[in-house]
Amino acid sequence: MVKLLDHIPVAHLATRLETLRNTLRPTPHVPLAMKGMDLFAKLEYVNPVGSIKDRPAYWILQRAADRGEICEDTTVIESSSGNFAAALAAFTHLVGLRFIPVIDPNISGAYESFLRRVCPAVVKVEERDDTGGFLKTRLQKVKQLCATTPNAYWTNQYGNPDAMEAHYELTATEICADFDTLDYVFIGVSTAGTIAGVSRRLKEHYPDIRVVAVDTEGSAIFGGPPRKRHIPGIGSSIVPPLLSHAKIDDVVLVSECETVQACRELLTTHGLFVGGSSGTMFAAIKRYAARMPTSKHPTVLFLCPDRGTPYLDTVFDPTWATRLE
Ligand SMILES: Cc1ncc(COP(=O)(O)O)c(C=O)c1O
Repeated sequence: MVKLLDHIPVAHLATRLETLRNTLRPTPHVPLAMKGMDLFAKLEYVNPVGSIKDRPAYWILQRAADRGEICEDTTVIESSSGNFAAALAAFTHLVGLRFIPVIDPNISGAYESFLRRVCPAVVKVEERDDTGGFLKTRLQKVKQLCATTPNAYWTNQYGNPDAMEAHYELTATEICADFDTLDYVFIGVSTAGTIAGVSRRLKEHYPDIRVVAVDTEGSAIFGGPPRKRHIPGIGSSIVPPLLSHAKIDDVVLVSECETVQACRELLTTHGLFVGGSSGTMFAAIKRYAARMPTSKHPTVLFLCPDRGTPYLDTVFDPTWATRLE
Protein backbone atom coordinates (compact mmCIF):
# COMPACT_ATOMS: atom_id res chain seq x y z
CA MET A 1 0.00 0.00 0.00
CA VAL A 2 1.40 3.38 -1.01
CA LYS A 3 1.37 5.72 1.94
CA LEU A 4 -0.48 9.00 1.64
CA LEU A 5 1.92 10.93 3.82
CA ASP A 6 5.71 10.91 3.90
CA HIS A 7 7.36 10.86 7.27
CA ILE A 8 7.53 14.38 8.67
CA PRO A 9 10.75 15.23 10.54
CA VAL A 10 9.90 15.81 14.16
CA ALA A 11 9.98 19.37 15.41
CA HIS A 12 9.40 19.77 19.11
CA LEU A 13 6.25 17.99 20.18
CA ALA A 14 5.00 21.09 21.99
CA THR A 15 5.33 23.28 18.88
CA ARG A 16 3.49 20.74 16.79
CA LEU A 17 0.70 20.52 19.34
CA GLU A 18 0.39 24.29 19.26
CA THR A 19 -0.04 24.14 15.48
CA LEU A 20 -2.70 21.52 15.95
CA ARG A 21 -4.52 23.61 18.58
CA ASN A 22 -4.80 26.43 16.06
CA THR A 23 -6.63 24.23 13.56
CA LEU A 24 -9.40 23.43 16.04
CA ARG A 25 -11.90 26.24 15.71
CA PRO A 26 -15.46 26.55 17.06
CA THR A 27 -17.94 24.58 14.96
CA PRO A 28 -21.11 26.28 13.66
CA HIS A 29 -24.72 25.55 14.61
CA VAL A 30 -27.64 25.76 12.18
CA PRO A 31 -31.42 26.08 12.75
CA LEU A 32 -33.73 23.27 11.59
CA ALA A 33 -37.43 23.84 11.01
CA MET A 34 -39.35 21.78 13.58
CA LYS A 35 -42.87 22.34 14.95
CA GLY A 36 -43.07 23.34 18.61
CA MET A 37 -39.40 24.12 19.24
CA ASP A 38 -36.37 26.10 18.15
CA LEU A 39 -34.14 23.28 17.02
CA PHE A 40 -30.42 23.63 16.31
CA ALA A 41 -27.77 21.20 15.09
CA LYS A 42 -24.12 21.79 16.01
CA LEU A 43 -22.04 20.61 13.06
CA GLU A 44 -19.16 18.71 14.60
CA TYR A 45 -18.18 17.32 11.21
CA VAL A 46 -16.67 20.72 10.46
CA ASN A 47 -13.70 19.75 12.66
CA PRO A 48 -10.44 19.37 10.67
CA VAL A 49 -10.42 15.57 10.27
CA GLY A 50 -14.18 15.45 10.06
CA SER A 51 -15.73 14.50 13.38
CA ILE A 52 -16.41 15.31 17.01
CA LYS A 53 -13.55 12.95 17.91
CA ASP A 54 -10.98 15.52 16.78
CA ARG A 55 -11.50 17.25 20.11
CA PRO A 56 -10.61 14.38 22.49
CA ALA A 57 -7.84 13.19 20.13
CA TYR A 58 -6.13 16.58 20.37
CA TRP A 59 -6.83 17.10 24.07
CA ILE A 60 -5.60 13.65 25.13
CA LEU A 61 -2.30 14.12 23.25
CA GLN A 62 -1.86 17.62 24.67
CA ARG A 63 -2.51 16.55 28.25
CA ALA A 64 -0.27 13.50 27.93
CA ALA A 65 2.52 15.74 26.60
CA ASP A 66 1.97 18.27 29.43
CA ARG A 67 2.40 15.46 31.97
CA GLY A 68 5.47 14.08 30.21
CA GLU A 69 3.67 10.80 29.46
CA ILE A 70 4.48 10.95 25.74
CA CYS A 71 7.62 12.01 23.96
CA GLU A 72 8.88 11.92 20.39
CA ASP A 73 9.61 8.14 20.64
CA THR A 74 6.07 7.25 21.71
CA THR A 75 3.87 4.85 19.77
CA VAL A 76 0.21 5.64 20.39
CA ILE A 77 -2.11 2.62 20.45
CA GLU A 78 -5.92 2.73 20.43
CA SER A 79 -8.96 0.63 19.73
CA SER A 80 -11.39 2.41 17.42
CA SER A 81 -13.32 1.52 14.34
CA GLY A 82 -13.79 4.98 12.98
CA ASN A 83 -13.63 8.61 13.88
CA PHE A 84 -11.29 8.49 16.87
CA ALA A 85 -8.75 6.42 14.95
CA ALA A 86 -8.96 8.80 11.98
CA ALA A 87 -8.39 11.84 14.21
CA LEU A 88 -5.49 10.18 16.03
CA ALA A 89 -3.96 9.03 12.75
CA ALA A 90 -3.90 12.55 11.35
CA PHE A 91 -2.84 14.27 14.57
CA THR A 92 -0.12 11.82 15.62
CA HIS A 93 1.32 12.16 12.14
CA LEU A 94 1.26 15.94 12.42
CA VAL A 95 3.08 15.93 15.76
CA GLY A 96 5.54 13.23 14.64
CA LEU A 97 4.37 10.19 16.65
CA ARG A 98 3.67 6.64 15.50
CA PHE A 99 0.10 5.37 15.80
CA ILE A 100 -1.21 1.81 15.60
CA PRO A 101 -5.02 1.59 15.46
CA VAL A 102 -6.79 -1.64 16.37
CA ILE A 103 -9.86 -1.96 14.16
CA ASP A 104 -12.54 -4.57 13.40
CA PRO A 105 -14.51 -5.69 10.35
CA ASN A 106 -17.33 -3.18 11.03
CA ILE A 107 -15.08 -0.32 9.99
CA SER A 108 -16.16 1.51 6.84
CA GLY A 109 -13.99 0.89 3.76
CA ALA A 110 -13.16 4.59 3.52
CA TYR A 111 -11.83 4.74 7.10
CA GLU A 112 -9.83 1.55 6.73
CA SER A 113 -8.04 2.76 3.61
CA PHE A 114 -7.36 6.15 5.23
CA LEU A 115 -5.78 4.45 8.26
CA ARG A 116 -3.76 2.06 6.12
CA ARG A 117 -2.36 4.98 4.12
CA VAL A 118 -1.46 7.11 7.12
CA CYS A 119 -0.45 4.73 9.93
CA PRO A 120 2.78 2.67 10.09
CA ALA A 121 0.69 -0.40 11.01
CA VAL A 122 -3.00 -1.27 11.36
CA VAL A 123 -4.15 -4.29 13.38
CA LYS A 124 -7.54 -5.76 12.46
CA VAL A 125 -9.21 -8.24 14.84
CA GLU A 126 -11.60 -10.73 13.25
CA GLU A 127 -12.88 -12.69 16.25
CA ARG A 128 -16.18 -11.74 17.92
CA ASP A 129 -16.30 -11.48 21.71
CA ASP A 130 -18.90 -13.05 24.03
CA THR A 131 -21.35 -10.20 23.32
CA GLY A 132 -21.25 -10.90 19.58
CA GLY A 133 -19.32 -7.66 18.98
CA PHE A 134 -15.62 -6.88 18.66
CA LEU A 135 -14.95 -4.36 21.41
CA LYS A 136 -13.59 -6.77 24.00
CA THR A 137 -11.38 -8.48 21.41
CA ARG A 138 -10.06 -5.10 20.30
CA LEU A 139 -9.27 -4.05 23.88
CA GLN A 140 -7.47 -7.36 24.50
CA LYS A 141 -5.36 -6.74 21.41
CA VAL A 142 -4.55 -3.20 22.61
CA LYS A 143 -3.28 -4.62 25.92
CA GLN A 144 -1.09 -7.13 24.07
CA LEU A 145 0.36 -4.44 21.81
CA CYS A 146 1.03 -2.11 24.75
CA ALA A 147 2.93 -4.90 26.49
CA THR A 148 5.11 -5.65 23.47
CA THR A 149 5.66 -2.22 21.84
CA PRO A 150 8.48 -0.03 23.22
CA ASN A 151 7.27 3.36 24.55
CA ALA A 152 3.61 2.51 23.95
CA TYR A 153 0.89 4.94 25.06
CA TRP A 154 -2.76 3.85 25.17
CA THR A 155 -5.06 6.85 24.78
CA ASN A 156 -7.92 4.80 26.30
CA GLN A 157 -10.91 6.69 24.92
CA TYR A 158 -13.33 4.64 27.06
CA GLY A 159 -11.82 5.59 30.41
CA ASN A 160 -9.55 8.60 29.95
CA PRO A 161 -10.88 11.64 31.88
CA ASP A 162 -9.05 13.86 29.37
CA ALA A 163 -11.63 12.80 26.75
CA MET A 164 -14.39 14.16 28.97
CA GLU A 165 -12.38 17.29 29.75
CA ALA A 166 -11.98 17.94 26.01
CA HIS A 167 -15.74 18.26 25.66
CA TYR A 168 -16.10 20.24 28.89
CA GLU A 169 -13.46 22.75 27.80
CA LEU A 170 -14.01 22.87 24.03
CA THR A 171 -17.40 21.61 22.80
CA ALA A 172 -19.48 22.79 25.76
CA THR A 173 -17.70 26.14 26.13
CA GLU A 174 -18.62 26.92 22.52
CA ILE A 175 -22.25 26.02 23.18
CA CYS A 176 -22.37 28.32 26.22
CA ALA A 177 -20.93 31.15 24.14
CA ASP A 178 -23.46 30.60 21.33
CA PHE A 179 -26.78 30.21 23.22
CA ASP A 180 -28.33 32.63 25.74
CA THR A 181 -30.80 29.97 26.79
CA LEU A 182 -30.97 26.24 26.20
CA ASP A 183 -33.76 23.97 27.43
CA TYR A 184 -32.78 20.56 26.05
CA VAL A 185 -29.64 18.97 24.70
CA PHE A 186 -29.68 15.53 23.02
CA ILE A 187 -26.38 13.64 23.02
CA GLY A 188 -25.56 10.25 21.48
CA VAL A 189 -23.49 7.95 23.68
CA SER A 190 -20.71 5.50 22.90
CA THR A 191 -17.65 6.04 25.11
CA ALA A 192 -19.69 8.66 27.06
CA GLY A 193 -16.84 11.19 26.80
CA THR A 194 -19.06 13.70 25.01
CA ILE A 195 -22.04 13.42 27.33
CA ALA A 196 -19.89 13.46 30.47
CA GLY A 197 -18.03 16.65 29.50
CA VAL A 198 -20.87 18.51 27.79
CA SER A 199 -23.53 17.69 30.41
CA ARG A 200 -21.37 18.84 33.32
CA ARG A 201 -20.53 22.18 31.75
CA LEU A 202 -24.06 22.86 30.45
CA LYS A 203 -25.66 22.06 33.82
CA GLU A 204 -23.36 24.67 35.40
CA HIS A 205 -24.23 27.28 32.77
CA TYR A 206 -27.94 26.50 32.26
CA PRO A 207 -29.14 25.09 35.62
CA ASP A 208 -32.60 24.14 34.23
CA ILE A 209 -31.44 22.37 31.08
CA ARG A 210 -32.54 18.76 30.53
CA VAL A 211 -29.84 16.47 29.21
CA VAL A 212 -31.24 13.61 27.15
CA ALA A 213 -28.88 10.70 26.47
CA VAL A 214 -29.53 8.91 23.18
CA ASP A 215 -28.55 5.31 22.60
CA THR A 216 -29.33 2.61 20.11
CA GLU A 217 -31.38 -0.52 20.81
CA GLY A 218 -29.08 -3.48 21.50
CA SER A 219 -26.48 -1.33 23.27
CA ALA A 220 -25.58 -2.27 26.85
CA ILE A 221 -24.86 1.27 28.07
CA PHE A 222 -28.19 1.87 29.84
CA GLY A 223 -28.93 -1.74 30.80
CA GLY A 224 -30.24 -4.73 28.91
CA PRO A 225 -28.19 -7.41 27.23
CA PRO A 226 -25.98 -6.33 24.32
CA ARG A 227 -27.24 -7.40 20.88
CA LYS A 228 -25.72 -7.25 17.45
CA ARG A 229 -25.69 -3.66 16.15
CA HIS A 230 -24.68 -2.45 12.72
CA ILE A 231 -24.28 1.34 12.87
CA PRO A 232 -20.94 2.47 14.29
CA GLY A 233 -20.37 5.56 16.44
CA ILE A 234 -23.24 5.06 18.84
CA GLY A 235 -23.90 2.42 21.50
CA SER A 236 -21.50 0.02 23.19
CA SER A 237 -21.37 -3.58 24.37
CA ILE A 238 -19.91 -2.41 27.71
CA VAL A 239 -20.92 0.28 30.18
CA PRO A 240 -18.21 2.91 29.59
CA PRO A 241 -16.50 4.10 32.81
CA LEU A 242 -16.92 7.77 31.80
CA LEU A 243 -20.72 7.41 31.98
CA SER A 244 -20.60 7.73 35.77
CA HIS A 245 -19.44 11.36 35.35
CA ALA A 246 -22.37 12.36 33.12
CA LYS A 247 -25.40 14.31 34.39
CA ILE A 248 -28.34 12.75 32.56
CA ASP A 249 -32.07 13.48 33.02
CA ASP A 250 -33.59 11.10 30.47
CA VAL A 251 -32.59 8.32 28.11
CA VAL A 252 -34.12 7.57 24.70
CA LEU A 253 -33.36 4.32 22.86
CA VAL A 254 -33.75 4.32 19.09
CA SER A 255 -33.90 1.34 16.73
CA GLU A 256 -31.48 1.13 13.81
CA CYS A 257 -34.41 1.28 11.37
CA GLU A 258 -35.53 4.59 12.91
CA THR A 259 -31.96 5.86 12.63
CA VAL A 260 -31.89 5.05 8.91
CA GLN A 261 -35.20 6.90 8.34
CA ALA A 262 -34.06 9.88 10.39
CA CYS A 263 -30.74 10.17 8.50
CA ARG A 264 -32.61 10.21 5.22
CA GLU A 265 -35.06 12.80 6.55
CA LEU A 266 -32.21 15.03 7.70
CA LEU A 267 -30.83 14.86 4.17
CA THR A 268 -34.03 15.26 2.18
CA THR A 269 -35.91 17.69 4.44
CA HIS A 270 -33.13 19.68 6.10
CA GLY A 271 -30.21 19.33 3.67
CA LEU A 272 -27.90 17.78 6.26
CA PHE A 273 -25.84 14.82 5.02
CA VAL A 274 -24.82 13.36 8.37
CA GLY A 275 -23.85 10.05 9.93
CA GLY A 276 -25.80 7.43 11.88
CA SER A 277 -25.52 8.91 15.36
CA SER A 278 -26.83 12.30 14.16
CA GLY A 279 -29.89 10.51 12.77
CA THR A 280 -30.30 8.62 16.03
CA MET A 281 -30.38 11.90 17.98
CA PHE A 282 -32.81 13.46 15.50
CA ALA A 283 -35.14 10.45 15.80
CA ALA A 284 -34.99 10.75 19.60
CA ILE A 285 -35.93 14.45 19.45
CA LYS A 286 -38.94 13.74 17.25
CA ARG A 287 -40.14 11.05 19.64
CA TYR A 288 -39.41 13.12 22.77
CA ALA A 289 -41.19 16.24 21.40
CA ALA A 290 -44.53 14.96 22.72
CA ARG A 291 -43.09 15.09 26.26
CA MET A 292 -41.97 18.73 26.02
CA PRO A 293 -44.34 21.20 27.74
CA THR A 294 -46.59 23.00 25.24
CA SER A 295 -46.58 26.18 27.38
CA LYS A 296 -43.03 27.01 26.32
CA HIS A 297 -41.35 27.02 22.92
CA PRO A 298 -38.12 25.29 24.01
CA THR A 299 -34.65 25.79 22.56
CA VAL A 300 -33.25 22.38 21.68
CA LEU A 301 -29.75 21.39 20.54
CA PHE A 302 -28.24 18.20 19.18
CA LEU A 303 -24.79 17.42 17.85
CA CYS A 304 -23.97 16.10 14.39
CA PRO A 305 -20.77 14.13 15.15
CA ASP A 306 -19.83 13.21 11.57
CA ARG A 307 -20.80 13.36 7.90
CA GLY A 308 -22.83 10.84 5.93
CA THR A 309 -20.06 9.83 3.51
CA PRO A 310 -18.73 6.79 5.46
CA TYR A 311 -22.34 5.55 5.72
CA LEU A 312 -23.12 5.57 1.98
CA ASP A 313 -23.01 1.77 1.73
CA THR A 314 -25.07 1.27 4.88
CA VAL A 315 -27.47 3.89 6.22
CA PHE A 316 -27.81 5.59 2.82
CA ASP A 317 -28.16 2.36 0.80
CA PRO A 318 -31.94 1.86 0.42
CA THR A 319 -31.61 -1.94 0.45
CA TRP A 320 -29.17 -2.18 3.38
CA ALA A 321 -31.73 -1.81 6.19
CA THR A 322 -33.94 -4.51 4.66
CA ARG A 323 -30.97 -6.93 4.79
CA LEU A 324 -30.19 -6.44 8.51
CA GLU A 325 -30.23 -9.65 10.59
C1 LIG B 1 -20.20 9.35 14.90
C2 LIG B 1 -20.14 9.37 16.39
N1 LIG B 1 -21.19 9.81 17.07
C3 LIG B 1 -21.21 9.81 18.41
C4 LIG B 1 -20.15 9.35 19.13
C5 LIG B 1 -20.30 9.25 20.61
O1 LIG B 1 -19.42 9.98 21.34
P1 LIG B 1 -18.79 9.42 22.69
O2 LIG B 1 -17.85 8.32 22.33
O3 LIG B 1 -18.09 10.62 23.24
O4 LIG B 1 -19.89 8.93 23.58
C6 LIG B 1 -19.04 8.88 18.45
C7 LIG B 1 -17.94 8.34 19.14
O5 LIG B 1 -17.10 7.63 18.59
C8 LIG B 1 -19.03 8.89 17.04
O6 LIG B 1 -17.97 8.42 16.32
